[in-house]
Amino acid sequence: MIHQLVYFSRNTVPGDDRVMLTNLREILSVAQRNNVRDGITGFLIFDKTWFVQILEGERIKVTETYTRIARDTRHSGASIMNARDVTDRSFPDWSMGGAMRSVEVQEIYLQHGIGSSMDPSKLNSTKVLQLALDLQAFDTAKRHGQRRAG
Ligand SMILES: Cc1cc2nc3c(=O)[nH]c(=O)nc-3n(C[C@H](O)[C@H](O)[C@H](O)COP(=O)(O)O)c2cc1C
Repeated sequence: MIHQLVYFSRNTVPGDDRVMLTNLREILSVAQRNNVRDGITGFLIFDKTWFVQILEGERIKVTETYTRIARDTRHSGASIMNARDVTDRSFPDWSMGGAMRSVEVQEIYLQHGIGSSMDPSKLNSTKVLQLALDLQAFDTAKRHGQRRAG
């Protein structure tokens, strides 16, 4: 059985888009290293204001990881939207995928009814999962495109 936890928090990483992206790459690289070790997979959605993250894996590992993340001072007010047991992982190939909200993916947000700003308190975990799966698919398609072009 796989445990899947979805939470949101307030992004307190300072700086403009570029600085934020650099900081986020650092967070993701540490996350990916730890998550490979811990058998955790998932996806991190973020913009200037919010983080929404999906963590999945063995229940004890998910709890440990979430507890560590929740203490991180680069965000605040981490709040669990949903935690449940599932039969399969939604992001089996991603130790931690990540997508910053950008013009490029604006259309995907709009398709999910998320306009100019994302308000996680108005999202439920099902919507978050669907959005993350679409962002993941976009990212995968883009990578394949780049490989072909290269
Ligand atoms: C929004 C956000 C998401 C994070 N996601 C993960 C994660 O999925 N896995 C993880 O191990 N650390 C994650 N971190 C980093 C942890 O808070 C913490 O800094 C890190 O796990 C410490 O790793 P270390 O003990 O190897 O230095 C995240 C941090 C933030 C701010």
